[in-house]
Order: sequence, then structure tokens, then C-alpha cells
Amino acid sequence: MSAKKTGFYCNACGHFTSRWLGRCAGCGEWNTYVEETLPTGRESRSAAAGGEAPVAVTEVSLVDDERRSTGMAELDRVLGGGLVPGSLVLLGGDPGIGKSTLMLQVAGTISSGGSRVLYVSGEESTRQIRLRADRLGAVRPELYLYAETDLDAIEKQVGKVNPLLMVVDSIQTMYGPDLGSSPGSVSQVRECTARLMRLAKERSISVFVVGHVTKEGMIAGPRVMEHMVDVVLYFEGERHQSFRILRGVKNRFGSTNEIGIFEMSGTGLREVTNPSSFFLMDYAHRDAAGSVVVPTMEGTRPLLVEMQALVSPTSFGVPRRMTTGVDHNRTALIMAVLEKRLGLMLGNCDAYVNVVGGVRIDEPAVDLGIAVALASSFRERVIDGNTVVLGELGLTGELRPVSAVEKRVREAARLGFGRCIIPRQKDVPAESGLQIMQAATLAEAFELLFG
Ligand code: TYD
Ligand code: MG
Repeated sequence: MSAKKTGFYCNACGHFTSRWLGRCAGCGEWNTYVEETLPTGRESRSAAAGGEAPVAVTEVSLVDDERRSTGMAELDRVLGGGLVPGSLVLLGGDPGIGKSTLMLQVAGTISSGGSRVLYVSGEESTRQIRLRADRLGAVRPELYLYAETDLDAIEKQVGKVNPLLMVVDSIQTMYGPDLGSSPGSVSQVRECTARLMRLAKERSISVFVVGHVTKEGMIAGPRVMEHMVDVVLYFEGERHQSFRILRGVKNRFGSTNEIGIFEMSGTGLREVTNPSSFFLMDYAHRDAAGSVVVPTMEGTRPLLVEMQALVSPTSFGVPRRMTTGVDHNRTALIMAVLEKRLGLMLGNCDAYVNVVGGVRIDEPAVDLGIAVALASSFRERVIDGNTVVLGELGLTGELRPVSAVEKRVREAARLGFGRCIIPRQKDVPAESGLQIMQAATLAEAFELLFG
């Protein structure tokens, strides 16, 4: 009798090695390899190996690509316009963030339209899920609950129930009995994902798979799965704050720069359809130095956020620089420009920059906002609450054009702002409902703001 063959998988990236290594040859992380029994080959065929013959591109049918609404516009947009039949969507996020809640709500709305939904949970009993469904208003005759972790049993039941949508909560609790390793191990997660993928494609079911991520990323799962699935969504937010952001990380059927915004309430997740006013809720009463509103773009949608900065003399040692919501290096660069081009002596000051509400902004169009917030705090000069600012900053202190000015400006006007400072650029909207002032350089913008 021969012993079962084993190998080592990296917990972070899924890299395989037959010999234990201290450092992953795939991602460079230390101490991430775990030993596991190797799959026997029969079960590790990929979803793509369906045995179809090659087809001429002109012969490929386009019709069965019909999307179905999830009943939540915020989710539909992140998915690229709704659910695609036969797709596998991974919903990742920290434990307790609200993944199960979101999934049960979607299951509820889809089944209320008369379509059958199968909600498989390896984490909660059907009674617990029923209690939650009661609270979320998701108790529908077409919603089937199934507390099971054995994938063989699940596949069998899918054949009987024949659902349109299936939710698997969570992938870390599922296992294929053929594999020797325990649920949640890299090979189980990989194998279960491949089998669910096959199931989705063969039966044209939309499948949502929930995956927990820990802060350290050490639980096997989402990282390994990302390559395999069609769509990867991450559900983010601070535990002690009520709003949640759904972010697309990968999407084979659409763009990945859309976000969906939700608010966690006593009766589940509520869509935030007017995010700008949501994020500026407290702004109206603000008249402190170091704060300014910036119209950013999240995908195709404008979003107004408040940028805050605090600059104070360093009491001892090396100045502290901290940012939340914006890039740290970008902020350092902006501070250097402020110092060199405008003579703001920030060298021996601590500086903190924060985007209110916990959103993360990656686009350079908020450069001017960061610069203005810093200067406002440094000079103890309040920016009037009627103004928004917009512009990418160059190293010589010039302001560079930004994209989608019209959408940003309109959103600001819609929320009652009266003035917008933007770079000199061509596509300035003529009719926008507010006063547009153009500045070629940072110095010109400051002239307009601080006089
Ligand atoms: P849950 O969906 O169980 O998180 P996950 O599946 O990502 O681990 O959400 C758990 C949290 O959500 C929990 O702290 C309670 C809160 N919650 C509400 O505030 N309102 C609700 O209606 C529900 C169902 C949960
Ligand atoms: Mg859960």
C-alpha cells in the first residue's frame, strides 16, 4: 500500500511545490506553505474541459447573455448591469461585514420574482437563516435553504431544486469528500471552486460564492480563487460605521471601477442612492480650517467627499505624516510642491490627511483638494463652504486637466455648491448651475481661495 502523495501550497497565492520552502517562490511571502494531500487527478479537471469542439467566431450565439437584475441597483451596477447566467461571482470580505446579509437579501428579491433560489450555508443552521430572513423580509416560498458542506450532496440537490441562483456561504466551509484535506485548505477551496464553476456553466445557474478574508490574508481562499472565478467583488467598510462599499476587483463581463454603496440598518442593507449627500452629511456645519470638498469619480458616478488635513508643528524628532483614504506618497509629493513652489514651510510640521467617511480615492484629480486642505490648516484659513476644488498637480506647480469635469461639476451644483475651481481645460461645461473658475497653477488657485 502506498502512502498518499502530499505537496505544499502557498496560503497567500496558491503556488505549489513538492518540497517545503521557507519563502514562497510565487509571491515572495515567508512561511506560507502548508502541506496537503494531492488531488488524485479525477476531480481536478478544470471547468473549461467540457469537451466542446472549436467554433467559428461568427457562429457563436450572443443571445443567451441576458442579464438579470438582482433587485438592487447598487449591486447590478458593480456586476456590470446585472447577473449573468452561468457566472460564478466571488464575494469576499472580512468576517461580520455583512456578506451573508447581502446574499440573503438578493436571494429574497430574486425569489420574490418567482424564480427559484438555493441558499447553501455551511455556517448557519436553516433556523438561524430563517430568523435572519424574517428580519430582512426575505421569506419567500421559492427560496430554499440548505445547511450542508458536502459538495457531492450539494450537487445532487442542485439537480433536484434546479435553481436560477445559488448562494454558497462560505467556500471555506465546503469540501469535496474525494480530497483528503480539511475544509478551508487551499486544495479544497480550489477544488470546490472548480466544481462550482463547472456546475454554474453546465446548468446556466448564477452562483454567488462567499469567501472570508482575514486582515492577514492567511486563510486560504479568495486569493487562490480570484484567478478561477468570473467576477470578484469585495465588501468593505469599518465595523463601527454603518456604511459599506461593494467594490469590483475583477469582472469578465464588465468594468471594475464601479462601486456600490450600502448602509447597514436594523433591517438589513439599504442602498445609498445619493452617496454624495450621504458623505457630506456633517459638512454643512463645518467652518474649521483644513477642510474642503472634492468632486471625485467612482467609476461612472461622481461622488463628493470632504478632504481634511491637520498640520501642526512637530514637537520632537521626525515629523509624522499620516494619510487615510489617499495615497501616502502622492501626499508627500504634494507637500513638496507646496513647500518648493509656494513657500509653505511644512518641513518641521506633522501632517495628517483624511477622507471623511472612510472612502479610498486613487485618482490624481483630488491633488488640488489635498493641497488646499493642507494649506488651509497650515495657514489657519477657512475655505468657504460654498466651494469645491478639482485638479491634478504637476511637479512645477501647474494644474493639469481632469476627466469628466461636466459630471463632477453638475453633481456639485446639484448638492448646492456655488463655486468650483478647476484647471484650465477645454471641456468646461457652459451651463452647469454654478460659477466655474479656472486656474493654471496652484498659486492661481490659492489666489482665488485665500485672496
Ligand atoms: P453578516 O452578514 O453575518 O456578516 P458576514 O456574513 O460578512 O460575516 O453580518 C453580520 C453583522 O451585520 C452583524 O454584526 C449584525 C449586522 N446586521 C445588522 O446590523 N442588521 C441586520 O439586519 C443584519 C441581518 C445584520
Ligand atoms: Mg456570514
